[in-house]
Amino acid sequence: MAFDQAFLDELNARSDILDVVGRYVQLKKTGSNYFGLCPFHNEKSPSFSVTPDKQMFYCFGCGAGGGVLSFIMRAEGLEFPDAVRFQAAQIGMQVPEKQGDPRAARHRERLLELSTEAARFFHRQLWLPEHASVAQYFLKRGLSRKTMNRFGLGYAPDGFSALLDAMREKGFSKEEVLDAGLASRSERGRVYDRFRNRVMFPIIDVRGQVIAFGGRVMDDSKPKYLNSPETSIFHKSRNLFALNMARKTKNDYFILAEGYMDVIALHQAGFDSAVASLGTSLTEEQVRLISRHTGKVVISYDADGAGQAAAQRAIDLLKKTDLQVKVLRIPGAKDPDEFIKEKGADAYRKLIERSESDNAYRLETIAAKYDLDEDEERVHFLHEAAEMLARIEGAVEREVYAGRAAKMAQVTVEAMEVEVRRALAVRQKKKKTAERREVRAVVSAAQPRDRTLQYQNVRSAKAEEGIIRLIFADDSLTDEIAARITPQEFTSQLLQKIFAHALTLHRQGRRVAVAAFEGYLEENEMQHLTAVLGGDRVNTTNWQQALDDYIGAIARCRMKSGADTGGEDPLLRMSRIHREKDRLGGNRI
Ligand code: UTP
Ligand code: MN
Repeated sequence: MAFDQAFLDELNARSDILDVVGRYVQLKKTGSNYFGLCPFHNEKSPSFSVTPDKQMFYCFGCGAGGGVLSFIMRAEGLEFPDAVRFQAAQIGMQVPEKQGDPRAARHRERLLELSTEAARFFHRQLWLPEHASVAQYFLKRGLSRKTMNRFGLGYAPDGFSALLDAMREKGFSKEEVLDAGLASRSERGRVYDRFRNRVMFPIIDVRGQVIAFGGRVMDDSKPKYLNSPETSIFHKSRNLFALNMARKTKNDYFILAEGYMDVIALHQAGFDSAVASLGTSLTEEQVRLISRHTGKVVISYDADGAGQAAAQRAIDLLKKTDLQVKVLRIPGAKDPDEFIKEKGADAYRKLIERSESDNAYRLETIAAKYDLDEDEERVHFLHEAAEMLARIEGAVEREVYAGRAAKMAQVTVEAMEVEVRRALAVRQKKKKTAERREVRAVVSAAQPRDRTLQYQNVRSAKAEEGIIRLIFADDSLTDEIAARITPQEFTSQLLQKIFAHALTLHRQGRRVAVAAFEGYLEENEMQHLTAVLGGDRVNTTNWQQALDDYIGAIARCRMKSGADTGGEDPLLRMSRIHREKDRLGGNRI
């Protein structure tokens, strides 16, 4: 971590969660907690709680949770270090800018140098006479030499050590090439190039540093693209392809495309504010990143079903911020790259001008499903459109699109409005029940919300949660608990990590509190910790009995699971297998 521990402790000690949250949310006291409307999702009745005792917040509706710094990260869209600086400035503390572990920093530095060297190596290959067919591939796809140079496109030669050899010649070690995500290790321990016989797209961050690569095959083999794995210099959910260029645009909007090739074709055609996510669907972090650079986004995804479904998801994410969202529709089943190649930049510019607001786009998508000349189908359209319209927050906007829907279905505006009101009433009712149900569900939830943190053994994990709650309720119990059970005996990796960190904190004489986990846990892990702590107040008078019960439960689970399912709950095992099938069935990574 980049900051001195004593400084962080001091910062946390001087910050009060009620003050911080109070800058954004109106809070009302209920018992020992405070409640208000969650600033991180839309809601009408408060499910956002602040617990001053624990200096934490938790939303029973959307699951957001953490301490002071997590709150600032979310509310201000900042990364951890910037949230620290932000809060320090708020309360007038000096930030000692000492850069953490110098060895880790040096290592990252080396990986950045290595990635730049690798990009240079790949790029050089592109112009070698023996690889003429590679440059030909890009040329055939309509890219100019200038574009290839501007984007630093390249080629990773066939064979198993072309890059490795070149990097070792430059003085980098095998381990460094591995750590940069540019080599893999076989089961036998042999290290070999990760990217072979692929055209290469370097991914460059806002500071202009090469941090990763995407590599595409030149034929129809699979996988079409291979991307760098997560490394200490590359976090794919926190970067966007071509953001380094798009941030310098004079346009007041960004174009969000799906693919590397789309973005490159767009830039070549003069649309210099195009970006794309990196081999996954858009993330919340990327949305925050975009909103730091522009106020308006034109979504320009592929015209096929998958692209349109992705566009709907992207709208939902983007609308959580105050970004203005438009959706560009390409006639014919094409992506932006193909469209521009065929119809040219001016035709595309017209599409941008004609791009619809997200609501109009949704309405069109619904209309396309029905034959509006048939009475029966018109009724179905009206119902579905009314439901969609009921989801629009602003009354004026809702009216505008209700009018449009009425026109599309050739019914009177009044008739449409009756439908919408009905849908609104149904929706209100459903929302109320859902909110009530959610609050209950989360309190007693058996599983973390985030599936990647899912418990393999729910019974054991519930007992492990109990132990965590005990320690947080009274950290003077830590020694006695540590004498009876070790983190290794926990089945949940996350709870194990939390328990182990709690022991470390205690050993260092620091308080076991949510604040001490800020910056240590990932955002989703922090959310889960606060969910675990968010339930009822823990009564510690009978802690010894409680601890006996938890330890007993964990031991019983261990004995049982060791005997049959190899440690995994049978039900969960089935659902995991189903999920894996789903995953293998899909073609996107
Ligand atoms: P596309 O298949 O639309 O790629 O996937 P594209 O960039 O338009 O490429 P061309 O035109 O076929 O050459 C969109 C994005 O999804 C990710 C990549 O980031 C790609 O740019 N992707 C796709 C993968 O990560 N892996 C894959 O196997 C396929
Ligand atoms: Mn494409």
